[in-house]
Amino acid sequence: MLGDPRHTTEDIRAADPLGADALLAAVPAMNARADVAALTVALRALVPDLDRAAQWSVGGALAAMRDLGILLGSLKRHGVQPLHAVPEALPVLELLGRRTDMVPRDTVHHYTTWNPKGPRRRTYTGHPTEARLQDAVRMVFPGLVAALDDCARVARLEPYDPGFATALHRIAGHVGTMVDSIDLTVAQVPPEYFALTLRPYFEEVEIAGRDYLGPAAAQVPLWLVDLTLWQCDRSDTAYDAFLAESLPYALPTWRAFHARHHGGVSAVGKLSAAVSWEGADRLPPALTASAEALGRVLRILKTFRARHLGIARKAYSDDVRLYEEGSGGAPVALLRSILDLTRENETMVRRATERRRPAVTPVGPAAA
Ligand code: HEM
Repeated sequence: MLGDPRHTTEDIRAADPLGADALLAAVPAMNARADVAALTVALRALVPDLDRAAQWSVGGALAAMRDLGILLGSLKRHGVQPLHAVPEALPVLELLGRRTDMVPRDTVHHYTTWNPKGPRRRTYTGHPTEARLQDAVRMVFPGLVAALDDCARVARLEPYDPGFATALHRIAGHVGTMVDSIDLTVAQVPPEYFALTLRPYFEEVEIAGRDYLGPAAAQVPLWLVDLTLWQCDRSDTAYDAFLAESLPYALPTWRAFHARHHGGVSAVGKLSAAVSWEGADRLPPALTASAEALGRVLRILKTFRARHLGIARKAYSDDVRLYEEGSGGAPVALLRSILDLTRENETMVRRATERRRPAVTPVGPAAA
């Protein structure tokens, strides 16, 4: 499992604790027919005995949640609250949530990373475009997991330390997959297909009186990269609210990461303080290198966010959209403000070094 040596991703993908392979292969046809009766019977058939579910390993419990989740999203897509139709699923979802220390519903991890590939792939529609979107989201996790290790390193270092820039350059390498992912999505997932066909499956579902968001890409932990690089000491009402809503859907190790770094000093904060401390025109080389590396990461985040905003705008344009808000519970306007914040931070870091560069000594006739 991501960051947890007790369960490998391969084991979770291979697991089929509910014996759901055949039934889930039939779900796309049920969805195409809007066959609520068949989906209800399918969910009821998959709900395991609590005693049996309590015996599963954490990896098995994650796989079971993945499989129940496909039916939760499918029923809701057709206007049915799944737990109104199949109330006996509630204690099982709660047990699986407790066993895995996650929300009592499937998340983006269940839908992408822990989803098998090939004939056992779980989808709502069976359409190749859905698989392409799953794969585009799945591909960002290894890079983001590695980036978080380096973000923790940056949080421990001062920008005068050469290790600060080195860790940031590694982060730049890791978060580059976000740009690849959105480029693939733009090339392979028509916004209308997302808006009209896929988005309805990511609706929230009510569980024990609380609404839980669907397995949305917005849950990938880019916000934890932001947290350590520029966000933990810079408050913004809309983004703070989005983070507070996203946090419960994160893996336990990531929630712990958030708790450790929340309220700390960000990389941008440390760099700005160091630059203003330096009175002279010329910055120490290590500080210049840190500023350049930080600017490089922020530029990559900006590129991802600008391209992502482009496709989100199309999918949520007035003539296409079915919903006001994204599947992560926020409107497209939030994406604009996160892009603006990323851009502001990048500009600030760039200016910090530009201002401090020594004036170029004039050469040639004018110099004489
Ligand atoms: C058709 C494709 C997509 C559309 C229409 C779309 C739309 C949106 C919308 C409307 C939001 C706002 C929050 C919310 O969901 O409620 C959002 C957030 C987000 N999405 Fe997407 N998205 C798409 C694909 C992707 C892909 C492939 C990724 C890559 C992993 C991604 C990563 C994110 C992230 C990280 C956020 C949080 C905001 C941020 O950090 O800038 N999205 N998306």
